[in-house]
Amino acid sequence: LGNGKLYVVSNREPYMHVKQCSTVECVVPPSGLVTALEPVLQACDGTWIAHGSGSEDAAFVDEHDHLRVPPDDPRYTLRRVWLSEEEVSGHYEGFSNEGLWPLCHMAHTRPIFRVQDWEYYQQVNAKFAEVLVEEMRDTEHPVVFIQDYHFALLPRMVKNLRPDARVAIFWHIPWPNAEAFSICPWQAELLDGLLGADVIGFHIQSHCNNFLDTVDRTLEARTDWEQFSILRGGHTSLVKPFPISVAWDEHMTEQAENVHHGSLNGAGLKKDAEDSWNRLPDSDERLHSDLHRELGIEGKHLLVGVDRMDYTKGIVERLLAVEYLLDEHPWYLEKIVFAQIAAPSRTRVPSYIALKAQVEETVERINRKFEKSGWKPVILIERQCSHKEVTRYYKAADICLVTSLHDGMNLVSKEFLAARSDGDGVLILSRFAGAAQELRDALTVNPYDVRQVAEAIRTGLEMSPGERRLRIDRMRQQIKEHNVYRWAAMVLTDVCAVRIEGEVLA
Ligand code: G6P
Repeated sequence: LGNGKLYVVSNREPYMHVKQCSTVECVVPPSGLVTALEPVLQACDGTWIAHGSGSEDAAFVDEHDHLRVPPDDPRYTLRRVWLSEEEVSGHYEGFSNEGLWPLCHMAHTRPIFRVQDWEYYQQVNAKFAEVLVEEMRDTEHPVVFIQDYHFALLPRMVKNLRPDARVAIFWHIPWPNAEAFSICPWQAELLDGLLGADVIGFHIQSHCNNFLDTVDRTLEARTDWEQFSILRGGHTSLVKPFPISVAWDEHMTEQAENVHHGSLNGAGLKKDAEDSWNRLPDSDERLHSDLHRELGIEGKHLLVGVDRMDYTKGIVERLLAVEYLLDEHPWYLEKIVFAQIAAPSRTRVPSYIALKAQVEETVERINRKFEKSGWKPVILIERQCSHKEVTRYYKAADICLVTSLHDGMNLVSKEFLAARSDGDGVLILSRFAGAAQELRDALTVNPYDVRQVAEAIRTGLEMSPGERRLRIDRMRQQIKEHNVYRWAAMVLTDVCAVRIEGEVLA
């Protein structure tokens, strides 16, 4: 970071104080963005500026709205920003989540653009710009790292107020093709706002290509398809893919490698490949984990899904695939259980309310159809689970199912791999998630193709231990090397290399 200091801005905060029953608890909200950035901030200190949305947040800040976090081991500063009910409804629920979210995800949910939401979007972006400028007042050449679609206008606003700041923005969701994006009545304003940044990051190259093409067709700007940069009004923005990831715990890796080297060799692999379902004893340790006991599913194969309750995640499609599998292959009746953790999300937005009802109905219908002597095929857990709880599910699962209809990256797939220090388990992954570009050893599926997903579940269940281990080992290696620290270092290296006019180089 040179002599600059790091300022991260996002709408979602890394810690929320909320009332649960009669006590106040500090919880980490379910958000891929938070999962990724939290370890980075912990490693390099700095200030994270975010909306204070927890009902009790105001009771835990000092007179500058600051709080040192994590609360039990403080490592960086959280600056809370307060938004009014109208601002939350217009900026967050309205323009961001009923407009930009469905606009950028190909999930066939129609975006809604209201003039009033747009006004609040501008107002909240301006409010964060003010807070940022106030926070940075004593820092020369600060480094500002803005997160996501809630703040497309912020890069330009910050640059206007602090021309000496180096500004990067990372877009955590996909960028659609130019024609799709053009339905947004304020596309030119959004693009102009983003181009205030020195570095604009996406997860994958095709999102960068879509972005460049959108600018090409909308604004007077010089797009350079060789350098992947855009020149506008004398300022250059670099547009680059930075695939996000998760933290990597070295301790876990060692364990996995030990397990691995003891069990994998060429001959073993060939023999394993010949293993069939019938030769896999049901006494397999994993089928009798504490979690299996707790859920009352001992001896059954566990499939897990972990998502926010969001229509882009393909939760209904996944349930239909489980139903199809049981219809077509009744042999699996009473042998498998699918546990879906669905964290409540954006609960006041109508499309989310409708999805919740649809998921619940589908689960009920499937369970009613197949239930037999106390066994039900689906367990739906509709609450937010801690990282520790989710990790227990990851570890106990035979298969992790990620069937997003469209997803920027999808960190559940990477968290699952990071959790599997036993070097075992199968990942089924949507080809429409950015992660599919990297995790080539997953069983990739088109989530709209129920038959294909059902077939992938069957393949996963019947896969030989050797093949499972080989595949997961390669994928774990990939995320060990491409972890979130490397992601942050790459973005920050690029933004720090930007030449700021008038700056005296040391
Ligand atoms: C996605 C977005 C994040 C967001 C998260 C959770 O991962 O890219 O910006 O924080 O969803 O959604 P929420 O609306 O609860 O912040």
